Amino acid sequence: MTDNNKIKIGLFGFGTVGQGVWKVLRQAKNAHAEIRRICVRDITKPRATAVPEGMLTDNAEDIFGDKEINLVVELVDDAEASFRIVSTALRHGIPVVSGSKAMIAKHLPELIELQRENDTALLYDASSCGSIPVIRNLEEYYDNDLLLEVKGILNGSSNYILSRVFDHGEDYDSALRRAQELGFAESDPSFDIEGYDSLFKLIIITVHALGRFVAADEIFTVGISHIADCDIRYAREKDKKIKLVAQVVKTAPEAFTMFVMPELVDRSKYIYSVDDEYNGVVIRGECYDRQFMFGKGAGGLPTASSILSDIMARRHDYRYEYKKMSYLNRPYYTTDVTLRVYIRYNRTPVPELLIFNQIHEQLLTPGNKYIIGDINLNELIANRDIFNAPDVFIANIPIFFIDRD
Ligand code: HSE
Repeated sequence: MTDNNKIKIGLFGFGTVGQGVWKVLRQAKNAHAEIRRICVRDITKPRATAVPEGMLTDNAEDIFGDKEINLVVELVDDAEASFRIVSTALRHGIPVVSGSKAMIAKHLPELIELQRENDTALLYDASSCGSIPVIRNLEEYYDNDLLLEVKGILNGSSNYILSRVFDHGEDYDSALRRAQELGFAESDPSFDIEGYDSLFKLIIITVHALGRFVAADEIFTVGISHIADCDIRYAREKDKKIKLVAQVVKTAPEAFTMFVMPELVDRSKYIYSVDDEYNGVVIRGECYDRQFMFGKGAGGLPTASSILSDIMARRHDYRYEYKKMSYLNRPYYTTDVTLRVYIRYNRTPVPELLIFNQIHEQLLTPGNKYIIGDINLNELIANRDIFNAPDVFIANIPIFFIDRD
């Protein structure tokens, strides 16, 4: 192999994942890839990983102006800065590997256009589910009309917190602090616990699953921050766990829906056993029923292993073709679907504020009130402010495909 076909990387960002990439490239002797320069915001900031003198720069031109660099790896925390870097690289015709899910979920249509206009590639398997190769599999193996549902635990931090609280009786705040110390959480951990990180990943997954881009504000998203002991007790009594679940589901041959919500997960489900910072993705389709992908969804080295895989894919000029986006019969997005939910509340008069299609169970004790009922997703979306009230917690009770498990 000559030096000419060596991958020479300009790396943007040297945080948890950036340093992980530095380490995995040292282990991957056959990668034939090297980091030439690392661009960071603050060169003087102390970092756990030592790099050779002159490797760090705070000037992006040291990367874009270096004719030797033939791949940009972008791992910057700030979504707008990351979009500027990625779009500049693509305009220079330099392929990019990125892990920036918030940025990609917001700008994906423009990024697809930029790849086409500049005849170059953007790969981002690391953006969704850390080490699990979900994007490339959806793009290549599930490249057909059989897919019915992609559903799972897409956020390691919230799953870590729920596991510690649920299985180890720890308190919520110390579990969150630990998720931050372990490098799982976002710099703003509300993205993890309020469901936005899962939402961004779901948006990206849906483009590769069904060929449709749906903007974040059109998708019902609720996280885990309002969970209380009574919810955990309720789940335990029913022999279930509460997990933060993101899902995109075909509700009819021509329609699909998607949402992010805590879910009461039955022991019989694959994701019941997905604990700590692990992620688990269930892919359901006609003919093959269910398949399950499991792996570490957060942390420097697991995410860096996915970056390495994309770097290696560029050795073979791999790029996403977004084939499903040009299918003639793409399903349309609908929120006109019935869900079954558990809503626990206290002061907020939930039964007066929400119209249920049917109520299955209701408890009205002074300290603990809940409703289990069927409700239209549009009703939840129209009243989404209710779920900002700290005394209100909602969890989905799955009803799609229930007779097919
Ligand atoms: N904060 C994210 C998580 C990191 O906890 O899953 C990986 O995307």
